[in-house]
Amino acid sequence: MRRPLIAGNWKMHKTVGEAIELVAALKRELYDERKTEIVVCPPFTALGAVGEMLEGSVIRLGAQDCYWETEGAYTGAVSPRMLRDAGCAFVILGHSERRRSFGETNETVGRKIAAALAEGLTPIVCVGETLEKREQGVTDEIIRKQLDGCFAARDEGVLRACVIAYEPVWAIGTGRTATSAQAAAVHALIRMWARERHGQGAADALRVIYGGSVTADTIKGIMREDGIDGALVGGASLDAASFCRIVRYYT
Ligand code: 13P
Repeated sequence: MRRPLIAGNWKMHKTVGEAIELVAALKRELYDERKTEIVVCPPFTALGAVGEMLEGSVIRLGAQDCYWETEGAYTGAVSPRMLRDAGCAFVILGHSERRRSFGETNETVGRKIAAALAEGLTPIVCVGETLEKREQGVTDEIIRKQLDGCFAARDEGVLRACVIAYEPVWAIGTGRTATSAQAAAVHALIRMWARERHGQGAADALRVIYGGSVTADTIKGIMREDGIDGALVGGASLDAASFCRIVRYYT
């Protein structure tokens, strides 16, 4: 019932030329992919060029962040409307790297979610605990706090229009993937949180994807878990062959 979603978060990688090269290869390989919904999230500078290349393609475009205002004197910021204009359908919000290095908070993520939805974008909202919190045994508490903070509006329509990405901070870029069981436990918690808030229907409809050192070798085991609906892939999305293998994890 929930279509698998594989999204590539390119982070601060790829010039426009390099982006075009990667997307050309992805289009060649994945043109007939129907089972998995595919999203690529290049840096802002490559969105326009990649957006043009993806017109009419099964691969969809996403951004890695946005601001909550539509336009105005906000130097350096990019609005949801601008993302839409560049061809985006998705936007990653609340990534731990933005929380850690750019002052992102649950409150600002909540404002960005509302602004992105108003423009028809699908937010991929990231939550995840640090190693310190996991070792303290407070993972569940942290995840709930992030969800409550990002979705303070308590609006079922908002949650239904979002994808949630569980990304344990200790698994990002470390080569240390969460075990399938560790990921599945937190995915179950996220779905329970959704059920408590908005009922079984909303919980069943919610796509929860996993991120953190996902590779072509680990994806199968991750996707075998019931409550895991896809992956947010960093490093392994920068190479066409490895990203294609992840998208086609079911083969
Ligand atoms: P890596 O796959 O490089 O660990 O990055 C995960 C991530 O942060 C995706 O958003």
